[in-house]
Amino acid sequence: MATIEAAAASRTFTAPTVRTCYDLMTVAPACGVTDLTDGKYLDDRNDRAAYLAAQERQAEYLLDQVRCGPGTRLLDIGCGYGRILEHAARRGATAMGITISPSQVANCRARGLTVFELNYRDILTNPPPTPHRHGGSPTYKGGELEFDAIVANGSLEHFVQVADAAAGRADEIYEEMFAICRRLVADGGRLVTTAIHFREAGQFNPAEIMRGPYAHPRRSPHYQFAMLAERFGGWYPAPGQLERCAAGQFDLVEEDDGTHDYHLTSEFWLRRFTRKLAYDPRVWWAVARQLWQRPRAAWEMLRLQLWDQSWAWQFRPPAPMRLLRQTWVAK
Ligand SMILES: C[S@@+](CC[C@H](N)C(=O)[O-])C[C@H]1O[C@@H](n2cnc3c(N)ncnc32)[C@H](O)[C@@H]1O
Repeated sequence: MATIEAAAASRTFTAPTVRTCYDLMTVAPACGVTDLTDGKYLDDRNDRAAYLAAQERQAEYLLDQVRCGPGTRLLDIGCGYGRILEHAARRGATAMGITISPSQVANCRARGLTVFELNYRDILTNPPPTPHRHGGSPTYKGGELEFDAIVANGSLEHFVQVADAAAGRADEIYEEMFAICRRLVADGGRLVTTAIHFREAGQFNPAEIMRGPYAHPRRSPHYQFAMLAERFGGWYPAPGQLERCAAGQFDLVEEDDGTHDYHLTSEFWLRRFTRKLAYDPRVWWAVARQLWQRPRAAWEMLRLQLWDQSWAWQFRPPAPMRLLRQTWVAK
């Protein structure tokens, strides 16, 4: 365990691309989208009502998986706009979120949620203060943070960067993530993760992806994935990799394939963004502000979403990626 502190002491660093990506994502709330992950659908109906119901269902599913109820002390790693925290609060849980995005922190706090700007890698060495004036309070036991349940819903795709994968550090980073989560939960505590996975081990060579999208034929798989890796900042786990890295810390007790669900969600997002961009002045303003503040990054994000549709590409049949919801129990 000393290694966690040693690693944290050597860096407090969040990949700048990940930060920029979530600055750019402030356009999403202007489109009426504050859920940044997959919904859980009952069928292929994909209008706004089906989308909203699917998002609710996914949040409730994740909270069921970690047995969240009255008094549960819950941590949401990468809480986005706080939707899981809101659902948990409705169940009577004491919920706290962390995110690397200052605008998400501000948005969540304005709604009374307990959220801190913090990289999960620093949570043990730089724990959030308590009690917090925004309500709720994380629990400390013997001077250490302790939770009954942890949710990481769509955040762990950012934990390993392409350069990490190229340097062979991916396993080490996932092992460290599980070790940190294990330190944070009580014995028998639960962790639920949702993460996009590569369909196959070795699907992409990180050295090739590091050459960037434009080194590859337009809209080829390498182009699309390099677009995503470069603009969102991240690398995906391979099938079985997380289970291997969790060994000794957590047992995988349930797995649910949400690839088709993420396909429906992504197509809904794309339709919504395209429509809103056509007629909603709030969205024009949000996009214009991003283009003004960070022209290249904003332009490349528009290109990725609208022209190349790299995000949606991941889940279009035959989907090159898989979305796995996995439930883990602390050993
Ligand atoms: C795809 S969004 C998912 C948001 C949210 N869980 C939801 O369901 O809408 C990924 C989230 O992970 C956060 N994140 C990325 N890297 C992180 C890190 N190293 N530590 C904490 N949060 C991180 C981002 O700030 C963002 O809130």
